[in-house]
Amino acid sequence: LFFSMAGTAFVAELATLSTPPAPTGGTPFTTAPLPNDTILTMILSFPPVCLIVLCGASGSGKSTWARRHFRASQLVSSDHCREMVVDDAASQSANDDAFALFHQWIALRLKNRRLTVADSTALKPGARDRLITLAHAARVPVHVVAFDVPLDEAIRRDAQRVGRSVGEKVVTRHRATLEQALRELPKDQRLAGVHILTPEQMDSATVQTTPGAVSAPAFDVIGDVHGCLSELQTLLGKLGYSAEGKHPTGRVPVFVGDLADRGPNSPGVLRFVCDLVAKDLALFVPGNHDDKLFRMLQGGKVQRTHGLDLTEEQLLGMPEKEREHLTLDILAYLAPQPVHLVLADGTLAVAHAGIHDDMLGQSSDFITRFTRFGDVRGFEASGMPIRHDWAAEREIGDSENGPLICYGHTPQDEIRFINNTVNLDGGCVFGGFLAALRFPERELVMVPAERTYAQKRVHSEA
Ligand code: UTP
Ligand code: MG
Repeated sequence: LFFSMAGTAFVAELATLSTPPAPTGGTPFTTAPLPNDTILTMILSFPPVCLIVLCGASGSGKSTWARRHFRASQLVSSDHCREMVVDDAASQSANDDAFALFHQWIALRLKNRRLTVADSTALKPGARDRLITLAHAARVPVHVVAFDVPLDEAIRRDAQRVGRSVGEKVVTRHRATLEQALRELPKDQRLAGVHILTPEQMDSATVQTTPGAVSAPAFDVIGDVHGCLSELQTLLGKLGYSAEGKHPTGRVPVFVGDLADRGPNSPGVLRFVCDLVAKDLALFVPGNHDDKLFRMLQGGKVQRTHGLDLTEEQLLGMPEKEREHLTLDILAYLAPQPVHLVLADGTLAVAHAGIHDDMLGQSSDFITRFTRFGDVRGFEASGMPIRHDWAAEREIGDSENGPLICYGHTPQDEIRFINNTVNLDGGCVFGGFLAALRFPERELVMVPAERTYAQKRVHSEA
């Protein structure tokens, strides 16, 4: 899991707004001296799928804060559950039933990989344990947001509530339990992040769930890796990245998908890319192989074909703890990523098997399928897919005015640029090469495969 406090970052928001925000989104602290008029804002950064457990005294403003930053459908509140079972949000008479509903509701959302905010006081360790256990059972990381509101302020806030103030005695008792929680939370290794907010930070903090890496100044789009870790490391080195995957000028690698299968070290590639994506240092769009892997890791029925058998074998060869950790992270950080990205003010688009201009910025099952397999329009009797060369068919107007579309999916002997599109799959796993396109420079950087890891089959995968 991501270490404690990992998601909390302070950034300098310049009052003048004359300086654009730090471009990479990956460096949490500014190193330059801050101008005097700098206002510090706390950014709470959450992965796209996680359980956010609110923790604080009754009346401290948890629900109010949560409503400001999350969609109503993302909030599951114990008071709402009380109301659902006994028509009264303040009733303590059916606590067990209300919490049974609360936990069940959260578990169902997490099973469906939905970011969820658990709105209850969660002051006692047992209450948090319960939530952490169910999130981890669903392989979802847990962040805690604790509300460090001084007692007098919490009492004042509680008293001003119409119809449902809990009273000074209860708030005082809650505040005492919170003291204990505030000491324990930062040490809790099960948590992916702990964010403690003062009343001032409750007002000013911003919440982000989208990767900041999308606003990087420049990108290196990397073709299908398929478990070729060594070639990936060589390529990133050639592109100027450190061994940890950081670039001195804040460039961001963008993976076109198909990280695993057929190659020598799929777990190593997944671990590496997952860590970068989790730290907001890389972007990734899932391909057809990734999608199948995610389904396998979620326990779905998938055929172990086209190299997934080898990936499974490699995963099973890992120490159990590491495998569980990796599985959790893949599902939390890679699986929820969008199937296409539009970057650099609309001048660059990335999708695994490609995308049509009229699909950019939109989403549907059809678009998802297109980005995974390309323009497949049915199958021949032999089972061969009927493919259209969408890139060659791209309209002149779109080529001239639309983004450069980077994709992969179909191995090429030579990198093909056509109609302002480029297929970056150099078939590394088949003994070809691993390719990257530097953007906006539009320069290709390539690394030859160290050996042939798999035989190319004529037979298709659509
Ligand atoms: P909430 O009803 O949001 O508190 O706010 P809570 O923590 O969720 O309480 P429980 O646990 O469900 O009982 C309590 C009062 O505090 C005010 C709200 O307007 C509300 O009247 N409030 C909230 C503030 O004054 N400032 C804030 O930043 C947040
Ligand atoms: Mg509330």
